[in-house]
Amino acid sequence: MAVLQTLKARQVLDSRGRPTVEVDAIASNGAVGRAIVPSGASTGRHEAIELRDSGSSRYGGLGVGQAVENVRTVIAPAVVGIELDDQAAIDAALVAVDGTANKGRLGANALLGVSLAVAHAAAAVRGEELFVHLNRLWKKRAEAEQGGSIAVEPTLPLPMVNMISGGLHAGRNLDIQDVLIIPVGAENYSHALEMIVAMYRAVGGVLSEIGAESVLVGDEGGYGPKLRNNEQAFEVVVDAMVACGFEPGRDVAIAVDVASTHFFDPATKTYRLSEASLRAFDSGDMVDMLARWVGRYPIVSIEDGLAEDDWEGWKTLTERLGGAVQLIGDDLFVTQTARLERGIASQTANSILIKVNQVGTLSETLDALLIARRHGYRPVVSARSGETEDATIADLAVGTAAGQIKIGSVARSERLAKYNRLLRIEESLGPNAPFAGRATLG
Ligand code: PGA
Ligand code: ZN
Repeated sequence: MAVLQTLKARQVLDSRGRPTVEVDAIASNGAVGRAIVPSGASTGRHEAIELRDSGSSRYGGLGVGQAVENVRTVIAPAVVGIELDDQAAIDAALVAVDGTANKGRLGANALLGVSLAVAHAAAAVRGEELFVHLNRLWKKRAEAEQGGSIAVEPTLPLPMVNMISGGLHAGRNLDIQDVLIIPVGAENYSHALEMIVAMYRAVGGVLSEIGAESVLVGDEGGYGPKLRNNEQAFEVVVDAMVACGFEPGRDVAIAVDVASTHFFDPATKTYRLSEASLRAFDSGDMVDMLARWVGRYPIVSIEDGLAEDDWEGWKTLTERLGGAVQLIGDDLFVTQTARLERGIASQTANSILIKVNQVGTLSETLDALLIARRHGYRPVVSARSGETEDATIADLAVGTAAGQIKIGSVARSERLAKYNRLLRIEESLGPNAPFAGRATLG
């Protein structure tokens, strides 16, 4: 098998025009793998550190020149010469050469660029699709599980798709960050995509009918209208379902990313919703509000309903809604096994968002996926609000049979790069390509 011979790194720009790291991994036989690192806006406090040139005036201090330099001068000498197929050895070397718990010395963006480029190069050496290679890595781990209870065959994910954006992604027009749909009635991935596009158009139609802004889109391509309140966003989406001839809940369901960490005030332990202007909400009020929404609208999934360190509140939320609704920890778990294990031990949440740059290497991402699966927590592979043409997460979701994917809306090419990649994978898997479908929601 080929070894890693050369690493090249450079600064490129993401979908918000911010610098990010691109890495080329070159194999001893000349095969090349390339990856570009994504970047969040509503980042959790416990995420791995994205290294930026904060002292520089260039690119407003958001440059990644130091991270790029770290790839060239510190990381390359530590990993060049290792077998490309040995992702675990390469990632272990990356973690070791950084040496910090949060990857803040060399930058999780530098480490992740290398980790993902290596996976692409290993696939290129074999002349195989990335998802096939990732599936081999996944199988090696998951098949060792007792009873073979973990899904291992490449499977197209059920998408969870942003329709209306708020919070930090759309100028704080709404408290909640995303109102999303899940096409639960879809028969296969391409059918799901067609339903999603119909819904996206219909939501635009409903918004212009009610005189709300339907042209401006948020960072993930969802509409960014000014609405009366959070609940009006659910109403617009339900109206769009009806306009499409979909039965709410049966054909299309709603998911919400509350991203509540960003309106949580740790000093007073209260949630500062703009709606609740009379008084701040405590965790119990938040849980009551979420339960009310679930009762009124066809909501099947709630992400970050409570803040990243509100473990007590999360426990109440899980007791109250966890039997009926998917409760996803994003800022809560940050794709890190230590936090996920704490959640599992305390029966907190029942699902985990998987974002490669929250942890910083592919192997650690696979660790989080494996622990989630072992304990019945549903993984949702996710993009960031800052993305690029890199579509690695599409292959990751298929190769690990994760079941669900969250990419953003069906607008803006950094989003479509992933949706289109899934179409190509679907084609290559043939007419009976396995599709996670509604069953993945439990
Ligand atoms: P982010 O948003 O990439 O800005 O963190 C995505 C999310 O919260 O799921
Ligand atoms: Zn989130």
